[in-house]
Amino acid sequence: MSKSATAIAHPNIALVKYWGKRDAALNLPAVGSISVTLRELITTTRVEFVADASVDTVTLNQRSDARTTARISKFLDLLRARAGVSTRAIVTSTNNFPTGAGVASSASGFAALALAGSRALGLNLSSTELSLFARQGSGSAARSIYGGFVEMLHGERSDGQDCVAVPLIDENSWPMHVVVGITSRAAKDIGSTDGMEATRQTSPYYDAWIKGAAADLAIARDAIRGRDFARLAQVSEHSCLKMHALMMSADPGLIYWNGATVAAFQTLRNLRKSGVAVFGTIDAGPQIKAICLPEASAIVSAALKQVSGVEEVLVSALGPGARLVD
Ligand code: DP6
Repeated sequence: MSKSATAIAHPNIALVKYWGKRDAALNLPAVGSISVTLRELITTTRVEFVADASVDTVTLNQRSDARTTARISKFLDLLRARAGVSTRAIVTSTNNFPTGAGVASSASGFAALALAGSRALGLNLSSTELSLFARQGSGSAARSIYGGFVEMLHGERSDGQDCVAVPLIDENSWPMHVVVGITSRAAKDIGSTDGMEATRQTSPYYDAWIKGAAADLAIARDAIRGRDFARLAQVSEHSCLKMHALMMSADPGLIYWNGATVAAFQTLRNLRKSGVAVFGTIDAGPQIKAICLPEASAIVSAALKQVSGVEEVLVSALGPGARLVD
């Protein structure tokens, strides 16, 4: 049995957003979501189980901190329980994209960790099982097991066993580019997990958000199957803006945008009005993400660079799911 394995995974950007949990302890989302996986952004994670180690050692981008180690150790416990062992591990993970770029590294991080960790323990898990494990690390990580367009299922079971991601169409079936405009590198005040819980507890709009999700997912699924960009743009923008309206309606309200985020969003809307196949989306941070057809990528990048406050622009095509490397 190999005691070490290395996997790579890519972050993803949600088009139909996940915000809110139906079970915080099991990390079960209150709504399904649909995302695209990004090829050029890569997390590489090596896991080695060491017979005589007494603790897990975790290095992320050449750094170690107690909070990250505790979160990863807790995740490895799930894999250890599955394999029936208690061996500790050395985890080394690096991202090729800047930390604080507003691209959730927890998604690619837990997807790569689920794959490398399970293989290093000699487990040969299916993609569904990997997605189930990854979800317990971070909800969005369940989607990074797959490439292209991916749907995270809400699931019906209270134990969450059917709460996994499923692939919709692969990365070559409908080529798309994602242009990320970085407007700030400051660490955010409130992360997704805490923000979701605060929203569930205090927003008067929470129930309406949950009720609207199934319809958005159905429209997005249909638009993706029919390669209908205009329809996908409309439902994605609506999902994004509804999520931010929901966040702002928490008490105290969560505002993840800055001035440049709003200006960039408007720029993308104006581009679309002028016939460019692009739409914007924003997650729990101030970065702008533009989704566009590949032929629109250059004009979208140029337009975002012109927005005052956009510091840097990253461009990615759609990519594959998590996989093992030598
Ligand atoms: C705004 O997956 O980071 O990016 O499950 O608590 O780890 P946890 O949350 P996380 O939340 C992602 C929220 C989002 C929208 C999305 O990716 O769907």
